[in-house]
Amino acid sequence: MEFQSRTQAIQISGIRKFSELVAKYPDALSLTIGQPHLPTPEHIRIAAQEAIAQGDTGYTPNRGTLALREAAAAYYRRLVGLDYDPETEILVTVGATHALDVAMRTLVQPGDEVIIPAPAYPGYEGIVKLLGAQVVYVDTRQDGLLLTPEALRRAISPRTRMVILASPVNPTGVVYPLERLQALAEVLADTKVWVISDEIYCELQFTGHLQSVALLPGMRERTIVIHGLSKSHSMTGWRIGFAFAPAHVAAEMAKVVQYGVSCASSISQRAALAALTEGACDARPMRDLYRHNRDLVVAAFTAMEIPLVRPDGAFYAFPAFALALGDTSENIAHRLLAEAGVAVVPGDAFSAYGEGHVRLSYACDPEVLREALRRIEAFVAKERRA
Ligand SMILES: Cc1ncc(COP(=O)(O)O)c(C=O)c1O
Repeated sequence: MEFQSRTQAIQISGIRKFSELVAKYPDALSLTIGQPHLPTPEHIRIAAQEAIAQGDTGYTPNRGTLALREAAAAYYRRLVGLDYDPETEILVTVGATHALDVAMRTLVQPGDEVIIPAPAYPGYEGIVKLLGAQVVYVDTRQDGLLLTPEALRRAISPRTRMVILASPVNPTGVVYPLERLQALAEVLADTKVWVISDEIYCELQFTGHLQSVALLPGMRERTIVIHGLSKSHSMTGWRIGFAFAPAHVAAEMAKVVQYGVSCASSISQRAALAALTEGACDARPMRDLYRHNRDLVVAAFTAMEIPLVRPDGAFYAFPAFALALGDTSENIAHRLLAEAGVAVVPGDAFSAYGEGHVRLSYACDPEVLREALRRIEAFVAKERRA
């Protein structure tokens, strides 16, 4: 049977493949998961129950309820300092994944190029390819896992339509400092390149002010900011995201939302409203815990003398584990699972430029993490003796 050629050209993400494999090792400790380990805060779950009890179960406007968009505007103004008009510049989407999809469907044509600093979250590539456009990965491994202005300038061609920036970054946890964003914005100033700024992990940044490329002079008009509640409020299953975009772009995007999904779930929108209006402190305990876990991971890899760029946000670390042990990411991840009972994601799941690394998620109980790190240390010691 023939399938649509662009669908045939994409693969199920390596993260999913690996977490399915982990299920075959019931005693393994899994550091693969890309979601907070704590449940959605209770006040949010209650708000959803109330929505159901009150019969708030119909379609909402395509862009999401005005109440939620107003709450999102106030939240993002307070958090990042960005100002968006809830009537015309904000869309509620089915998770950040959908916001990314809608933004790219609205702006990217077949044959366009989309620049993605790599290693990168694999969700971007699939969308670009489904649109018949081309991913241009820029390897950041020699540059502290951050895109440099020189590398961005080199990657831009007459066909470049967009660059996707994220901070904190999945899979590395690195955070773009303001000066670097300014330097990248300067490169973009002379071009017509659009920016997607994926800020889904911003509430889980451990230090410093939250930055957004959209805050820089001239950038708001060419940037679509993506956010969502999956990580900040432990709401991965509720599927609520946001796109913040200039009004004329948001108007086009609203059409794509209409024909794709009509609207996000009314019940999830009520839950999200509670998250944004009464949940200003919800992310704090997670952030504190993940910062503590980050310190455990950094200390362990430093002691093992395995190179690791210190993550300053999200809940991932991306050590050059395979490189240090002289094996491929795929092999070392399989062996770590089979021989040490610890599951991590091979770095090449995040593009070919993740090769040599593995991704650890430390969104877990510190005791689980400590035991997993002990097992990794024992594995490394054995490898080095062999
Ligand atoms: C960088 C990044 N962007 C977007 C998403 C999608 O999140 P959502 O659950 O809101 O669709 C993820 C999820 O892992 C992510 O890591």
